[in-house]
Amino acid sequence: MSYAYTADGLPRTIAHRGLSAHLPENTLSAVRAAKQIGCDWVEIDVQLLGDGTPVIWHDNGVRRCSNSRGKLAKLDLERARALDVGGWFSSHFAGERMATLDEMLALLNELEMGVNLELKVNRGRDPLVLTDTVIPLALAALPAERLIVSSFNRTALDAARDVQRDPDRLRLGLLLEKTPREWRRDAEALSAFSLHVDWRKLKEKRAREIKDAGYALFCYTPNDPVAFTPQWAWGVDGVISDDPALFKHHLPESASLPERLTET
Ligand code: G3P
Ligand code: MG
Repeated sequence: MSYAYTADGLPRTIAHRGLSAHLPENTLSAVRAAKQIGCDWVEIDVQLLGDGTPVIWHDNGVRRCSNSRGKLAKLDLERARALDVGGWFSSHFAGERMATLDEMLALLNELEMGVNLELKVNRGRDPLVLTDTVIPLALAALPAERLIVSSFNRTALDAARDVQRDPDRLRLGLLLEKTPREWRRDAEALSAFSLHVDWRKLKEKRAREIKDAGYALFCYTPNDPVAFTPQWAWGVDGVISDDPALFKHHLPESASLPERLTET
């Protein structure tokens, strides 16, 4: 398997919540599996347990992706660790445990992977506590070129920028559903690195504006590489997909391909 990078070294494919089409999302296994198919970047969601431990988790509750129910914010680490977060996906993954951010950062370093870390601020959760906990840990663990932090939550992004003012040391991504007219003002105010937009809502004019202004542009969550063909021509840098392997034969000409990923 080989996956291209842009001339600027940006990944053409990022595995959404790990290789979530084939493994339970946001788990260590799903990240290892992305690496195994040759996809060196993953997108994962981070939030806090009730005891303040940062964990890799998407929902406000645990019902959809575990063998229990209730809110994540009501769990301490011991209780969270007692959950089976793999069996809901398939019995093959039964016994998988919720990953802490610490464990995930260690794995990303072990595998030399890049991460788009999404600060997930669900309803009723505090964006500032999340950001002030997570950003120092991520910065301590990962070099700038293997980290992009994104969020739908502007308070979280602004707080992240307050923790690290240097946009080259901490690359921030504005995560957007529909790109508003004033996207440029928001990106400038944040010293943003990238925009992460819903691929179904992105229009060509906006895509070209974003690229002309010098920002990286990522699209979530396309899983149909044929339908996505026009977006590459608009200048999109990369896709955040549940199944990056689908894109293997549908990527634009690549200006750079790391040698170790080149097919033999
Ligand atoms: O970061 C892109 C994507 O993950 C945003 O939506 O709900 O899958 O976290 P969601
Ligand atoms: Mg996400």
